[in-house]
Amino acid sequence: MANKKIHFNAFVQNSPSPYSSGLWKHEKDHGTKHNRLDFWINLAQTLEKGKFDSVFIADVLGTYNTYNNSFDTSAKYAVQLPSHEPTVLVSAMAAATKHIGFVPTISTTYSQPYSLTRQLSTLDHLTQGRIGWNVVTSYLKSEAVNLGLPERLSKDERYNRADEFLEVAYKLWEESWEDGAVVQDAATDTYANPQKVHTVKFHGQYFDIDGPHLVEPSVQRTPVLFQAGASTKGKHFAAKHAEAVFSKHNSLEDLKRFVAEMEEKAEIYGRERGDIRVFPMVLPIVGKTEAEAYEKLKMLESYVSHEGVATLLSGHTGIDLSHIDPDDYVEDIQTDAIQVDLDYYAKDTTRKWTFKEALKHHCIGNGAAIFIGTKEQVADQFETWAIEGGAAGFNITQAYNPGTFEELIDEVIPILQERGLYRTEYEGTTLRENLYGKGQQHIKYSHPAQRNKKIPN
Ligand SMILES: Cc1cc2nc3c(=O)[nH]c(=O)nc-3n(C[C@H](O)[C@H](O)[C@H](O)COP(=O)(O)O)c2cc1C
Repeated sequence: MANKKIHFNAFVQNSPSPYSSGLWKHEKDHGTKHNRLDFWINLAQTLEKGKFDSVFIADVLGTYNTYNNSFDTSAKYAVQLPSHEPTVLVSAMAAATKHIGFVPTISTTYSQPYSLTRQLSTLDHLTQGRIGWNVVTSYLKSEAVNLGLPERLSKDERYNRADEFLEVAYKLWEESWEDGAVVQDAATDTYANPQKVHTVKFHGQYFDIDGPHLVEPSVQRTPVLFQAGASTKGKHFAAKHAEAVFSKHNSLEDLKRFVAEMEEKAEIYGRERGDIRVFPMVLPIVGKTEAEAYEKLKMLESYVSHEGVATLLSGHTGIDLSHIDPDDYVEDIQTDAIQVDLDYYAKDTTRKWTFKEALKHHCIGNGAAIFIGTKEQVADQFETWAIEGGAAGFNITQAYNPGTFEELIDEVIPILQERGLYRTEYEGTTLRENLYGKGQQHIKYSHPAQRNKKIPN
């Protein structure tokens, strides 16, 4: 463990104050400038100074209208509305940086593998191998009705479609263009050797493909695959496909259980233990003293739009919280929305949560684990969750943007570096090398991108 290095991704979204409803009013939050390139360029440069692995950009394709069956409170409190597009930000940030990676969120439910693989391969070329993909299946009902479906697909079906989507995507990325296909030989008037460019023929339940990948092989070929799944089916999907899993945990014990489960499940799919890197979501809050850090949390809470939080949590859990008694306990049920946002409260083995308490916890940082205290105490918590808990790194959410990241970079990262727990230089030139180590530009041979298997129902 002595050589273990902690990785950080910045969890952001092209929307003002997406995870701390109401914090856009705080003077340190610049989220209202999300529609300007300089906001994103400055952010990427700041994060690169902090040697972050990536700018991880969440996304939704619809409104949060579960609460009171209306998007009024989403619009009023900016609950991920406006929701601007994530991938268009990447080229600008890449042009202003050299090392940091970019992980846009794109839904397999509302895109097509032939065009999406093209888009991501193009970005992987332009960034010279710094692209990842947060593979999501989408959870809002409002997305379906605007994107060609009469209603949201069941979670089972979303994951089946996602599984087939990736099966096709791997063929396009890994098998269509052989190494050495591009010769650019002026003497023979040959750009590419057609013998080495292959048609992908695929006829599945959801997709039909009969053509070659439109992009010559990029540095990584398959982008680094992130996924966040906490339902049984979601965990199987992650175990099969994800190189890194984005998760939420209410305790160190819960994290340990999750890491152990992912290791076991990875083996079912012929992958090696350690292939899947777990990234819990964390909000750091640093004060000069512990008391000051708690004062800061109180101050941050004074900016919260509470109905906005209820709107957000309703969308995440699929439960309309406008019709729930706040003193009721959060029930352990299955949801077709995001399972972990219920499990975080309903499956906590240390205590029971009422909806009122869950809403209070969710109000800053979207229900992330909050690491709070002096800079040493916050560094200790990262260390414990990484070394004892088995987290490979953390997706850092924010109270205010970019202030939360700046405080982490200025206060906590130097301590982690002194402890030998954080890089002082990037290990490689690609996102995958920075995650797995120098030399690992392509997806590992143990990954099913190299050999497909079906996931069980
Ligand atoms: C921490 C976390 C972050 C997520 N981010 C997004 C996102 O940005 N966009 C999205 O459509 N879904 C997102 N999801 C939803 C998941 O991709 C998945 O569709 C959802 O969690 C339902 O599957 P599950 O119940 O198996 O987790 C996120 C889920 C988690 C747990």
